[in-house]
Amino acid sequence: MTSKLQGNGYQPGFGNHFATEAVAGSLPEGRNSPQRVAHGLYAEQLSGTAFTAPRSENRRSWLYRIRPAAMHGSFAPFAQPHFHNDFQAGPVSPDQLRWNPLPLPTTPTDFVEGLYTMAGNGSAEGQHGVGIHLYAANRSMEGRYFYDADGELLIVPQLGRLSIASEFGVIDIEPQQIAVVPRGVRFSVSLPDGEARGYVCENFGAALKLPDLGPIGSNGLANPRDFETPNAAYEDREGDFELIAKFQGHLWRASIAHSPLDVVAWHGNYAPYRYDLRRFNTIGSISFDHPDPSIFLVLHSPSDTPGTSNLDFVIFPPRWLVAQDTFRPPWFHRNIASEFMGLISGVYDAKAEGFAPGGASLHNSMTGHGPDAATFEKASAADLSKPDVIADTMAFMFETRAVIRPSAQAFDAAHRQRDYQACWAGLQKHFRKPG
Ligand SMILES: [Fe+2]
Repeated sequence: MTSKLQGNGYQPGFGNHFATEAVAGSLPEGRNSPQRVAHGLYAEQLSGTAFTAPRSENRRSWLYRIRPAAMHGSFAPFAQPHFHNDFQAGPVSPDQLRWNPLPLPTTPTDFVEGLYTMAGNGSAEGQHGVGIHLYAANRSMEGRYFYDADGELLIVPQLGRLSIASEFGVIDIEPQQIAVVPRGVRFSVSLPDGEARGYVCENFGAALKLPDLGPIGSNGLANPRDFETPNAAYEDREGDFELIAKFQGHLWRASIAHSPLDVVAWHGNYAPYRYDLRRFNTIGSISFDHPDPSIFLVLHSPSDTPGTSNLDFVIFPPRWLVAQDTFRPPWFHRNIASEFMGLISGVYDAKAEGFAPGGASLHNSMTGHGPDAATFEKASAADLSKPDVIADTMAFMFETRAVIRPSAQAFDAAHRQRDYQACWAGLQKHFRKPG
């Protein structure tokens, strides 16, 4: 059993420099690596950016731990055939694609065993692109620890809470909250509710950051102080444990004779964090039309091209619709970007049915999509003299500049909706040439 880490709690703020210790006097003062660290701890630096990255982008933390991370057995391949970065090779269908929720497991399955690759682009080797995965699990990781060397993990629960015990402390999240675990950070997931399902975006590119706000000003969208970083907490236990690594697209396993979650104190700005999507300050039109969905951007991974992200994490939260002489749901559109959507709870306002919580859709570059026939007819006839509220909804999108290639298992899955395109078949021809 994974024992509860000692110490807990959170520090607010995004990208700040944190300092936290679970045992008083563990953090060195005035230096990072003294000749002897207090209490017999080892000092170890974990760098998430190049040493020479600009100060504003530079992320690293110093960890003061019971044993260094180097101590473990040899790695050997770990069989989990559903989780990989082998996105569909060869031709990619431009069809609109949609899936029912990933079925919950019927045999004991932990978070790592329950990861299921849906799609992706780029590669860990190329340090750009994303892997898009689902997870469905029904048991806690027991004596098993995991890290992803290929990318940071953006975890979006849809069903059930997750308790993520990490080297940096414990992060507890529930649906409508997210967690981000930086590349390389070791962690173990337990399931307080016994079952859990959700989405994971594995970001091979630059670390997620808050977007600039331009004319919006200094407040709004996701506010920095709502991002929470855990206080130091540690396990001091020995046993016959496993360390699972995701490295260059595949999983590896090594024996480890102690818990790697043995960091008693740390300081720095490279650390996991959580955010509650219900705290997102949604901004929209109070006159006519509605802005592009970039107005719903929570976090993004910039690419080398200004204004063009490797990954945008966008949400569609509860909001009021007040625009006049306006088709209020999302309009029909085609984008150069590619869009993978999921639904955390409620109903998405562009679809009357078929897009269930836990499900997913994929609309790739220049593929037409938008409201289904039922939604179009309803919105076209709506009374705009009063506002509408979408109270029960939380959808999200992983949007990328590169085409998102489905995995073969997702494309062939029994839970893919072969009839998805029929949702637009009922759109009527309304054109009448005047005269
Ligand atoms: Fe779209």
